[in-house]
Amino acid sequence: MDEMEVIGNQKEKPDSTRPTFFIHTFGCQMNESDSEHIAGLLTSYGWQKGNCPEESNLVIINTCAVRAKSVDKFFSLLGRLKEIKKKRGFKIAVVGCVAQLEGEELFKLQPHIDYVIGPDNYLELPKIIDHKEKITSTTWSGHWREHPYSLIRRESQVSAYVPIMEGCNNFCTYCIVPFVRGREKYRPARFILEEIKALADRGFLEVQLLGQSITSYRDPESNQSLADLLRQVAQINNLKWIRFITSHPKNLTREIAQAMAEEKKICRQLHLPVQAGSNSILKRMNRGYTREEYLEKIAMLKELMPEISLSTDIIVGFPGESEKDFEDTLRLLEEVRFTNIFSFRYSPRPLTAASQWPDDVPFEVKRRRLIELQSLQKKIQLEINANFAGRIIDVLCLGRSQKTPHLYCGRNEAHQVVNFSSSLEVTNKMVKVKITSFGPYSLHGEIVPESI
Ligand code: 5AD
Ligand code: SF4
Repeated sequence: MDEMEVIGNQKEKPDSTRPTFFIHTFGCQMNESDSEHIAGLLTSYGWQKGNCPEESNLVIINTCAVRAKSVDKFFSLLGRLKEIKKKRGFKIAVVGCVAQLEGEELFKLQPHIDYVIGPDNYLELPKIIDHKEKITSTTWSGHWREHPYSLIRRESQVSAYVPIMEGCNNFCTYCIVPFVRGREKYRPARFILEEIKALADRGFLEVQLLGQSITSYRDPESNQSLADLLRQVAQINNLKWIRFITSHPKNLTREIAQAMAEEKKICRQLHLPVQAGSNSILKRMNRGYTREEYLEKIAMLKELMPEISLSTDIIVGFPGESEKDFEDTLRLLEEVRFTNIFSFRYSPRPLTAASQWPDDVPFEVKRRRLIELQSLQKKIQLEINANFAGRIIDVLCLGRSQKTPHLYCGRNEAHQVVNFSSSLEVTNKMVKVKITSFGPYSLHGEIVPESI
């Protein structure tokens, strides 16, 4: 869903006495978080993280099944790995959503795979990779399984992912997630709070609470809601920013919005996927709200937090989407004025209800609609970003920009990318940046030296 290019941890030279693993991660923040758990778990068993498949004994591919495109990318990576494996002889473990979806079939499709492990089974990985023979593990557990958070090997030392739930009960008709991630399971709030306190004590400034349908969260022990949890997280000392993804519009309550408005540490930023602007499409997507109800939620958020930054996901070319339906989506973008959108061409996914319906919007039409949608949004983003020119804003610096390494890169409260110059080293610090220019997808500026 969300990607930023920053240069990560310094590459370490591998120690030749320890077995080495390499992880390639596809997909969303939940997968990135799972990969951090897997890396930490293997490290605790004496493994070390390598920089490339060539120097590794085990290559782990953490897969995403949400859209056909990410599955295609996974298979093309497997093709490349097949050749390298012939020379280097490493094992290949496929984990995550495609592993859950395909199970043992993957061995038939790609015999050079050694292990297939679903999203609910990666805790078994250290034991599985002891075996010489092929192994599949894709069983579900009906309840939350706590993983020792002290083992997690995090990519950032300042911003942490904290999973608070797993799975989804919503069954949107296009979506494979409920089939590969199972039904909702909630993490007890006491574990969440304990982990975040430990993170804050270690100097983390930002936490991003994660869950596929996070607004349904209920503490399994006290039945408290997401709003209650957010208020408790906001009491934790030294933490600066709290975010949570992904919210479902149908259960985004006024209570949650009020917690956001009243607690200064909760960022005034919300990702609220609408998917489509037409009521007939929303109904067939089984989204559980109408266009009008979505817009009412947006009005409620803007009333409580006039400065809120909103982002969304849009699918174009869902079965039966007419030009009029698509126009409704364009008008919705103009009305809400999102800071950012993630937009996709519909692709039928196995097991979903919509995959039984004709995929009747021709590829060329989907392509044209996506371009039209993105160019409208680009214009809106340029207008929104123009308002930042000359302003001084807080930025959490996450490292150097990959494209322009002489600049630092970070995020503001609105979760926009900010590239900026600084003569001082500011990685992992919260700094003030004066915005001097902007583009549709990022802000540019210079550090305010007194802020360090
Ligand atoms: N086709 C296209 N996009 C999809 N998404 C989910 N399923 C599909 C699909 N079958 C998009 C939705 C979701 C995001 C994570 O991926 O917009 O919010
Ligand atoms: Fe998929 Fe809908 Fe669940 Fe989101 S809410 S994960 S789109 S089924």
